[in-house]
Amino acid sequence: MEYHSPVLLKESVDGLNIKPDGVYVDVTFGGGGHSKEILRRLNESGKLFAFDQDEDAQRNSIDDSRFTLIPQNFRFIKRYLRFYGVRKVDGVLADLGVSSHQFDEAERGFSTRFDADLDMRMNQAGHLSAFEVVNNYEEDRLSSVLFQYSELRNAKAIARKIVEARSEKKIRTSFELKEVLSEFVPKSVEHKILAQIFQGIRIEVNQEIEVLKEFLLQIPELLNEDGRLSVISYHSLEDRLVKRFIRSGLFEGEPEKDMFGNVDVPMKKVGKLIIPSFSEIKKNNRARSAKLRIATIK
Ligand SMILES: C[S@@+](CC[C@H](N)C(=O)[O-])C[C@H]1O[C@@H](n2cnc3c(N)ncnc32)[C@H](O)[C@@H]1O
Repeated sequence: MEYHSPVLLKESVDGLNIKPDGVYVDVTFGGGGHSKEILRRLNESGKLFAFDQDEDAQRNSIDDSRFTLIPQNFRFIKRYLRFYGVRKVDGVLADLGVSSHQFDEAERGFSTRFDADLDMRMNQAGHLSAFEVVNNYEEDRLSSVLFQYSELRNAKAIARKIVEARSEKKIRTSFELKEVLSEFVPKSVEHKILAQIFQGIRIEVNQEIEVLKEFLLQIPELLNEDGRLSVISYHSLEDRLVKRFIRSGLFEGEPEKDMFGNVDVPMKKVGKLIIPSFSEIKKNNRARSAKLRIATIK
C-alpha cells in the first residue's frame, strides 16, 4: 500500500516560492511527497532539512546529498537546525497531522476501523498513549480533552461513562472503547462521532496544539526576509491557530496598538486560503478537510 499520497502538493510547494539555491525545511516528512517536490525545484547548492518523529517515516529517507532527515519533533525546529549550523531558512512547510500509513497500520491504534491496543503515539518512544489518557486521566481532564479537542458538547457525560466503565475493567482496545461509548454514538452518525472522539484523544496524546503553537512562535525568527511559511491543516482547531498567528502573531486576543494605532505583527499572509480542488478530493478522499495557508515575514 502507498505510504501517503501528498495533499495540495503543487500549491503548498508553490507557496514556498522556492529559490533554487535556498535552504528549506519540511517539518512533516511522512512518505516524503512534499520533500521530493522541493528537492526537484532546488539546484545543487540548495538544501532541504526534514523532520519526522515517526520511526516508520524515517525508513522513507531520500538518498540525496542535499537532504537531511532529522528524526525529531518539529517543536524543537530551531534547536535541531542550529545543531546543523542553520540559523535562517528560506521556507518552512508543514503538512500537519497523521499520514495515511499511520491510519492504515492497524496496530498504531489511530483508526476507528480496526481493533487495536489504544496507542495513537506518532513517536513510538513517547510516554503518553491513548491507553493512559482513557484509563488514567481524571474525569475532569478527560472531559476537557473531549470538549476542547473532540469538540463534543456532551463531553462531560462521555467522560463520566468512560470513568464508570474503567472502574470495572481497564479499556484496552479501540473496539472496547467503541463498545463503552455505544450509547453516545447513533448508527447514523457513528463514523463522524467516533472520528471526533479518536481525534481528540490523538491530539492530547501527541500534544498537537501545544506543539503547533511552539513551532509557529519560532518561525518569524527562523525565516529570512522574503522567507515563506506554508501550512496545511486538517481540522479547525489547527487552522484557527495558524490563521490567527499569521494575522496577529497571537493565538487569541488582539495585538496591542502603539500610540499611532499600528500593530507589530511578525508575519503577513500571502494570497487567500487554498483548499483542494474537487478532482483532488475525488482522487484522494483524505484531502477533503485540508486547508493551506501561506505567509511571509513582514
Ligand atoms: C500528513 S503526514 C505528512 C505527509 C507528507 N507531506 C508526505 O507527502 O508524505 C504528517 C507526518 O508528520 C509527522 N509529524 C506530525 N507531527 C509531528 C511533529 N510534531 N514532529 C515531527 N513529526 C511530526 C507524522 O509522523 C507524519 O509522518
